[in-house]
Amino acid sequence: MAYTITLIPGDGIGPEVSAAVVRILAAAGVPIQWEEHIAGAQALNRYGDPLPFAVLESIERNRVALKGPITTPIGEGFASVNVRLRKELDLYANLRPVRSLPGTPMRFGSIDLVVVRENTEDLYSGLEHIVVPGVVESLKIITERASMRIARFAFEYARRENRRKVTVVHKANIMKLSDGLFLDCVRRVAREYPEIEIEEKIVDNACMQLVMNPQQFDVLLLENLYGDIISDLAAGLVGGLGVVGGANLGDTIAVFEAVHGSAPDIAGKNMANPTAMLLSALMMLRHLGEAEAADRIYAALCRVLAERQIRTRDLGGTATTTEFTEAILAELEA
Ligand code: NAI
Repeated sequence: MAYTITLIPGDGIGPEVSAAVVRILAAAGVPIQWEEHIAGAQALNRYGDPLPFAVLESIERNRVALKGPITTPIGEGFASVNVRLRKELDLYANLRPVRSLPGTPMRFGSIDLVVVRENTEDLYSGLEHIVVPGVVESLKIITERASMRIARFAFEYARRENRRKVTVVHKANIMKLSDGLFLDCVRRVAREYPEIEIEEKIVDNACMQLVMNPQQFDVLLLENLYGDIISDLAAGLVGGLGVVGGANLGDTIAVFEAVHGSAPDIAGKNMANPTAMLLSALMMLRHLGEAEAADRIYAALCRVLAERQIRTRDLGGTATTTEFTEAILAELEA
């Protein structure tokens, strides 16, 4: 029986990398019936809402979605569809494994770490107002409930995946109440996992240490904003945004998407690296219990990068999105 999965190709490079991934999953023989939906500016123009009800309904029914990036207007216009989606579906955990791939330039040596980002609150609550002209207030919301469940998610993940350490990243020296609450919740949860080491790092120091000695890290646990920033930093350690996949997870729903955005600078040019979207799709296959297919596709990807030396421009190569995708298809069929 085929899986029914919601597909949101997104905009910018989204449709190009989504099409590549759909082809690769089909070639690997995974039976998927895609329910395709639009969101973002296209949906706003067509339906009057950047996140139409039909999209949410489809994801709630299928419980699994693969999503491309969606552009958010800067400083004006509609609120981020990505943030809205995570909040409306209560996808509270953002999981981003950052791993070096063979055959890619490795300035920082071999990396294998996982970013766990709280996905529903913090400064992403969208609560901003003008107090008086020239003075703006943005509210940072941290709750015990959300902090406890993301901490539990991180430690459960560490236990299940045999990870040895969780580093909680914070700024509780300055934001004593909000980050203090987050840190306190993490410490409380950590006591239930004595086999996993807990380490605490202030966010500025964590950034420096990530660049100086990234191998010391294992699982990183962060609030929403720090998690957003450090995810991109960590992606930079392994070759950039083109090679890091991710998942937004709730208790019953999972939406898989790459860390990167819509990359307007290269959109429509057949230049995007589909690896990040593919790695997100492989996380989706494992979530569905299709680990064998995921392993096969991952092995094909590694052979293309390492043995065939075929790479897109972000990794120093010259291959187009199509050429890179077809090399993976050829490896799968070999
Ligand atoms: P971006 O991630 O779109 O691009 C940053 C840089 O990385 C660009 O130079 C881009 O060409 C490169 N890049 C990204 N993905 C790549 C890939 N697959 N292959 C090769 N190069 C790649 O970040 P930016 O420019 O800050 O954001 C653009 C738009 O995307 C904004 O509207 C932003 O709000 C949105 N965005 C959406 C996200 C989502 O849908 N989850 C996440 C992040 C940003």
